[in-house]
Amino acid sequence: MTDARTLLLSGAAFKADPHPTYARLRAEAPVYCRVSRDGAARMWFLTRYADVAAALRDDRRFVKDADVTLGPAELLARPPAPPLYRLLTHHMLNTDGDAHARLRALVNKAFSARQVEQMELRLRTIAHDLLDRLVPRGMMDYVDDFALPFSIAVIAELLGIPSRDRHRFRAWSHILVAPSVDADRNERKTARLAQVMQDFVDYLQGIFAARRRAPQPDLITSLLEAEEAGDRLSTEELYSMILLLTVVGHETSVFLLANQTLTLLTHPTVLAAVRNDRSLITPVIEEVIRYDGPVERATMRFAAEEIELHGATIQRGDAVSLVLASAHRDARAFPQPDAFDLARVGARHLGFGLGAHYCLGAPLARLEARVALDILLDRLPAVQLAIPHSELRWQTNPIVRGPKHLPLRWEVPS
Ligand code: HEM
Repeated sequence: MTDARTLLLSGAAFKADPHPTYARLRAEAPVYCRVSRDGAARMWFLTRYADVAAALRDDRRFVKDADVTLGPAELLARPPAPPLYRLLTHHMLNTDGDAHARLRALVNKAFSARQVEQMELRLRTIAHDLLDRLVPRGMMDYVDDFALPFSIAVIAELLGIPSRDRHRFRAWSHILVAPSVDADRNERKTARLAQVMQDFVDYLQGIFAARRRAPQPDLITSLLEAEEAGDRLSTEELYSMILLLTVVGHETSVFLLANQTLTLLTHPTVLAAVRNDRSLITPVIEEVIRYDGPVERATMRFAAEEIELHGATIQRGDAVSLVLASAHRDARAFPQPDAFDLARVGARHLGFGLGAHYCLGAPLARLEARVALDILLDRLPAVQLAIPHSELRWQTNPIVRGPKHLPLRWEVPS
């Protein structure tokens, strides 16, 4: 095995094709430890399907709230997080047990399959409106020109964010996907992050005031009602919930759309098949999520106790990263895992997670992917990649998998 200090798990070259590295980890070091430069923090990578699935299910030993792993003395010794940071991190993806269940129950209904089905017509209109402007151009960056505005419009409508403000969500969404303020020693970066957080909070205060004056049939209004009821939602949880939903509600969907378009353009036989038979759209989406899903690694877990696995000892408090992209290429779960195969049977993919934190937005994400693909096939019958696959640049965020840009072109009839 390559010396642990030299094995790259980040950076542009790794992100361009992480699979050979993950294959080595699965074979040679399925529970792999990286130690921070100062030696103070350990992070473990789990890369085999069975281990990733078991850890996702085991929310007693693999917890989301790092504080749960600390004893009373350790809690007291820990420096307090800045107030703004606290205001925006009290969301369900950072909580466990009853607190998590309570937060999730507040928004569960809005994301149920039944509720989401009713949004299909609206989603179709949003997609057609965007394409009306793009089709005559003969080219676009699918990420910036379609996937991003489409996904932001969908989640913003559900929440009740006015359309004139939607462009601001891109900057705000970096709050959650950026490294934590505590871990970030770069003062300039921390100050910029604090400014973005403050802008977001100021903006929401304005929206809350407007909704209190004039309630609307949207999710923000119903969350405000829960906050006013007192014990159901604290102020910190209200802000954090909206940040979580805006961020996860589009960061991941954008790259599900981009990855499915890219995968089809690089698998022309499958593309021709789905063009002729739209009932294949659903298996295409599920196989894209396995083959090249937008969430490369689940969000961080922490070991609530000492955990022995494949001869390694994960210490209480250690960070644990569950590598979904690697689990999906594990031949123990998926025969011929590097093939894109619509007829695949066997293990279920973990692309929406598993267990308590299973993706709340899965029905909406699937609908967005279905509508976007169906309409792309209708409106751009001869669409092609505008640059060679090898020239694509990839998102460097460790959690997200997707191209930074996806240039497409097509003939415009004169
Ligand atoms: C409409 C868009 C989406 C919304 C509103 C949404 C919402 C959420 C929320 C609220 C959670 C946290 C659930 C909890 O802690 O109980 C979550 C988790 C998750 N979502 Fe989504 N999501 C969306 C799209 C997607 C997409 C497109 C994918 C990937 C295909 C995805 C993958 C995941 C995964 C893997 C988790 C679990 C994370 C973990 O356990 O660390 N989501 N999602």
